[in-house]
Formats: sequence, structure tokens, C-alpha cells
Amino acid sequence: MQPEKLIIFDTTLRDGEQCPGASLNNKEKLEIARQLALLKVDVIEAGFPIASPGDFQSVQQIAKEIRGSSIAGLARALEKDISAVAQALEKAESPRIHIFLSTSKLHRDHKLQKGKEEVIQMAVDAVKFGKKFCDDIEFSPEDASRTEPDFLTEVVTAVIDAGATTVNIPDTVGYSVPEQFAELIRSLKETVPNIEKAVISVHCHNDLGMAVANSLAAIKAGARQVECTINGIGERAGNAALEEIVMALKTRNDFFGVQSGIDTPNIMACSRLVSSLTGFFVQRNKAIVGKNAFAHESGVHQDGFLKKKDTYEIMDPTDIGLEMSELVMGKHSGRNALSTKIKAWGFDLTQEELDEVFANFKILADDKKEVFDEDIMALVQKQKFSDESLNTYSLIKIQGSFESGVVPETTVLLKSRDGQEHSATAKGDGPVDSIYNAIDHITGMACKLIDYQVMSKTRGKDAQGEVTVRVRHENREVLGKSTGVNTIETSAHAYVNAVNKLLVKPKAGPVGGGDIQGP
Ligand code: KIV
Ligand code: ZN
Repeated sequence: MQPEKLIIFDTTLRDGEQCPGASLNNKEKLEIARQLALLKVDVIEAGFPIASPGDFQSVQQIAKEIRGSSIAGLARALEKDISAVAQALEKAESPRIHIFLSTSKLHRDHKLQKGKEEVIQMAVDAVKFGKKFCDDIEFSPEDASRTEPDFLTEVVTAVIDAGATTVNIPDTVGYSVPEQFAELIRSLKETVPNIEKAVISVHCHNDLGMAVANSLAAIKAGARQVECTINGIGERAGNAALEEIVMALKTRNDFFGVQSGIDTPNIMACSRLVSSLTGFFVQRNKAIVGKNAFAHESGVHQDGFLKKKDTYEIMDPTDIGLEMSELVMGKHSGRNALSTKIKAWGFDLTQEELDEVFANFKILADDKKEVFDEDIMALVQKQKFSDESLNTYSLIKIQGSFESGVVPETTVLLKSRDGQEHSATAKGDGPVDSIYNAIDHITGMACKLIDYQVMSKTRGKDAQGEVTVRVRHENREVLGKSTGVNTIETSAHAYVNAVNKLLVKPKAGPVGGGDIQGP
């Protein structure tokens, strides 16, 4: 018998992007959407169009370009939100409007200040309004897991009658435990008379570390769509991790008996892309995509593994796209090998971009003995996502001497877009601090460094380091990134990258006006 199909609804670009500090620009969102399409997710939730003109344009761009996956946009149960989603999705091959409205008593009393009847009416009206634009309507009773079961049944029945084709049951604050959440799904199947007309979906948050467990328990109980994000990023402690759910279903198909259509060898590329663009590193011991997930350290394990790998490995690393033998690229490697590699990761480079990456690859290959995949990935990302035309400043030079016991002092030389050079010298608590103080002198902006991280992208003493800084100025916070072999210089580039982003003024006002609060 053919296993039943599970719909994978990815919300990395909406719930994932919504978490503090993860903000992505539209180019980056489009690149992630392309990678999600290669991964063959069934639905990509591309954003919340009413939230800002930038969100609207991003959803519109993704809807126009991506084929093969449905594209969803989020809306509150308000006509202006639903119209904005419909407009943003006009060019989508397969559009979906996702409407949400709180149903729990806590949210009804304190957030909405509405009674039960009013909430049901709003939900029904919103679904009927959405139906004028598209057939595929998903409704989410927000905070469903804390909603009175009888009322949840009433709401779900009413929205299905109004035309909802998917009913999504969110565990909005990650409060559920697996047995209880599974029971909720089972009871909806029994108490909602028209449940056969809609797909039951679940959307679990990870506040108590049970998002994946709750999702899997719900699937076992009959849910046939799961909402999740790459690397589990999302509000607060995040959402259920796509890669963990998909690999659990694949590895334990004997137990779950359902199958996703995910092209699992694309998992690793997607995880790396999301991690690198959001600046959210994946913990080493994270299931499936962590660096240690397939590493064997103890002698006893290594011995067993070498005799028969199944003794300590329940998944094949190639199933998630980890290459067993790394294809080492060096200065003798050609353009064709480089291009093939880049294409396999899902990047779509123009001839000009490829030429540029190839030239930088040759420079790097002269400097380094071996150029690893991560090195090349860093070059591609620098080429694709650093929009130099928007840059106000570029770094020309840093000069300083650092000595134990002496307060570091650095001179920084920047060039502004009009071609002028600006120099400043400053002291600091450390070399990086002195560089950042000198940059602040030049720009006249007193920025606050919120976070500073260096990650080795490759191996060896000549490894490329990726520096990520989170910088705040007035009420804006941005991420700055750079990759290079010289960590101090790369730190300066990352800070200049953040300053350039801060100098690009955000477009004013949300599409529909009014104050928009994320779900
Ligand atoms: O967590 C939540 O309840 C949501 C809804 C909008 C589905 O993100
Ligand atoms: Zn959510």
C-alpha cells in the first residue's frame, strides 16, 4: 500500500523571519524561496504582505518567480489584509491565502476584546472574503491548543463551511505536550462534522522544546499538513524544524506510515543558506544538520561504525546532502567544475556573476592550499547578496599595532560613494573595538554593537572566518557580515556592511496603513 502523503508547509520566510534579529532583505528571501522550491516543499509561506511595502514586494516577487510549490501569504481576519495577500499573489502559479484569528479565551478577552460569537463571525466573513480571490484558503485559530475544545470545534466547523480547505491548529506558545496535542487532533476528527472537507494542519512552537515531538504526535493522530521552518528558526524558541520532521518520517516510516515529497539531499544546502543569511548559527549537536550529527568520536563507536555503519548511524548522511568524500577544489580547477558545484547548491548565477566568482575563487586558491565548498559558498553569497550600489562606505585600509598590555589604537580609511576618502584613529578595549570606534568617528553614528560572532567556515589554520555583527542605531537593528582569512580585517568589513545597511532608509508605512502587529 502506498504511504499517505504529508504536506510540508514551510514558514521560514514568515514565522522564521519574524524572530528578532533574523530580518532578511528581499534578494535573500528570494534565494531562500528558490532553495525551498528545490527542496520540493509543498507550500512556501512567503510573508505577511500587509506588514510593510518590503514584505509585500517580497511576496510578490516570490509568487512571480517560483514554480512547483504553492505560495502562501498571511493575513489577519481583515479585508485589507486579505486583499493585500491576494494582490501580492496575483502572479502565483498556485496561491494560498492564510488567515488567522485568535480563539483562546485569553486572547479573546485581552487581545481582541471580543466575545465568542463575534470571533466566529469574523472568521467566517474573512474566509468568505478570501474565497472571492482564491480557492485555496487556510484558516488558523491562533492559540488553538489553549482554546476551549468545544469552541475550537465550533470555529473549525464554521470556517470549513465558509470554504476553508486547510484548518491549521497552532500551538502558538509551545504549551502542549505530545499526548495531549495528539488527543486534540483526534478529537477534532471526531467532533467536527465536516472535517473530511479540509486538511488538518499543525503549527507548533518550541518554547518547551517539544515542537517536533508535538508535530509528529499530531501526524500520527491524523494531521496531514505540518508547518515548520528550516533549522527550526522562528518566534522566541522557534518553530518545529523541517529537517527533523522530514527525516523522522523517512527513518521511522515503519511507525508513521506517511511520506513527505521532500528531496532530502537538498536539506544541508538549505540549512546552510538559511543559517548564513539570517546569521543564526546551527548548534553543533543539532539533530540532522548540526556539525556533529554524523560525527563519531568515541573509540568504541568508531570501531563499531567501521565494522558496520548501521551500529551507530540510523541515517545515511548522503540522504541529507552531506557528501562522504569532499570534492576538493584548488587553483587548477576549472570554471566548469565550479559552475556545476554552484548549480547543485541551487544558486542561479548570471554569466557575469559566475565570471566574478571564478576570478575571486582563483585569488583565494592562490592564497589557500585547498578551497572547500564552504569557501566557495561564501564567495557566491558575497557576490549575490552584497548590493554594492547601495553602499555608502567601503573599507580601504586598517592600520594598527596590537601589543599585550597596551591599549589598542587603529586607523581606519573608508571611501564614501562620492569618491572621497575619510580617515580616523581611535582607541578601544580591544583591536576590534578600536576599529569600530574609528568607523563611528567617520560616519558620525554612535552605533551599539549588540552581538559579535566569528565562525570558522572551513578547516585548517588558513580557514575563512565569517564575522557576523548585530548593530543597533537609534531604533533600528541590522546584521552585518563578511567572510575572509584575516579575522580582524573581516571584522571591519562586517561592521561597514552593517553601517551601510543602516544608512539605507527603510520605506515608510505599511501597505494598508495602521499599526501592524505580527502574529
Ligand atoms: O504561531 C501561530 O499561531 C502563528 C499563526 C499565524 C499560524 O504563527
Ligand atoms: Zn507561529
